[in-house]
Amino acid sequence: MKNVLVTGGAGFIGSNFIRYLLHTETDIHVFNLDALTYAGSLENLKEVADDVRYSFIQANITDTEFVEQFLAKHKIDTIVHFAAESHVDRSILGPRQFIETNVMGTFSMLEAARNIWIQPQNQPLENVRFHHVSTDEVFGSLAPGEPAWTEDTPYSPNSPYAASKASSDHLVRSYGHTYGLPYTITNCSNNYGPYQFPEKLIPLIILNAIEGKPLPVYGDGQQIRDWLHVEDHCEAIHLVLTKGAVGSTYNIGGENQPANLTIVETICEILDELSPASPHKPHKNLIQFVKDRPGHDRRYDMDTHKISVELGWRPRHTLTEGLLDTINWYLAHPEWVTAIRQQQAYQGWLDANYTSR
Ligand code: NAD
Ligand code: TYD
Repeated sequence: MKNVLVTGGAGFIGSNFIRYLLHTETDIHVFNLDALTYAGSLENLKEVADDVRYSFIQANITDTEFVEQFLAKHKIDTIVHFAAESHVDRSILGPRQFIETNVMGTFSMLEAARNIWIQPQNQPLENVRFHHVSTDEVFGSLAPGEPAWTEDTPYSPNSPYAASKASSDHLVRSYGHTYGLPYTITNCSNNYGPYQFPEKLIPLIILNAIEGKPLPVYGDGQQIRDWLHVEDHCEAIHLVLTKGAVGSTYNIGGENQPANLTIVETICEILDELSPASPHKPHKNLIQFVKDRPGHDRRYDMDTHKISVELGWRPRHTLTEGLLDTINWYLAHPEWVTAIRQQQAYQGWLDANYTSR
């Protein structure tokens, strides 16, 4: 791993991964290719902007020709593909962009890799790797008591987002099977932590609670997600890149499965303690049950036996510590919050998703 192309590196997980990689590896160059959609911001990468081992390129993953030339020119040996539309609610209100980016964009990245790394004899260059970052949502939804998903569980995606990610996973696997593309895939659960765009549950609730705004809980709030700290996720991806078996997929999960309402109440309790003088105390009085998400998956749970046995990975963060760190991070970075909201048409999204709910 010498010249690494990270797609979507200006987003939440990608920016954390770039910081992690530059911190962990010394002899490396990281190229961050990102279109800077509403979800991407260079505010997320200020800490590494001046590192000589880091370069930013504003480009679209659907531009196969550009990506091909880039791979060749910079002798890219590793692609870590994060770029995607990532929010389920947006996929319900407007699915087309999810097909463009997640399906066609991944297809474009695979074509570029095939053309530069594999042509003409289905013989890959040495030491190249296409790593695809995916989600547990491809597996669908679990009934109470059903066992956790393993890497062999058949896909059963329910939302347009999940279906687009499932399609992209299938495409990656097919390029390995058909053209010999050396790939790995990770399917991970819900991430949380610093730099997460405040459309997702945890940062939305933190920021709304700080400002005394309603805390919207969909349906009965008893839906269950598995919560993974983003730094644990980055560590797992790095392990899969360096020690994972080519042609394999790995589940990654945080071993935390509270109901959504419990997460929201825990954030409220932590804020009550951290901000004893807040006029919005007790923050849990801000909770509002709102109309449920259509097709809302009830429960997710990942079996992470494979990555733990093969690569020795386990999540380091408990949810209580991770939430405390995350809330402290948002409290300590009001300038990031202001910049992200101004730059990213945030209010428009809140109006579209919540006003008529
Ligand atoms: P994000 O929405 O925060 O960031 C996505 C990034 O991709 C942004 O920087 C955006 O500008 C960029 N991007 C979007 N379309 C692009 C295009 N056409 N060309 C180039 N760049 C483009 O997403 P995230 O939460 O960091 O998720 C990263 C990856 O992890 C995604 O593939 C997502 O499906 C997957 N994932 C996320 C979670 C989670 O909880 N956030 C969980 C499981 C899997
Ligand atoms: P989200 O962060 O959007 O992630 P995902 O849909 O990928 O799991 O949502 C996490 C859970 O929180 C999900 O069950 C939907 C729920 N949710 C709310 O109850 N209220 C909200 O305002 C949001 C954004 C999510």
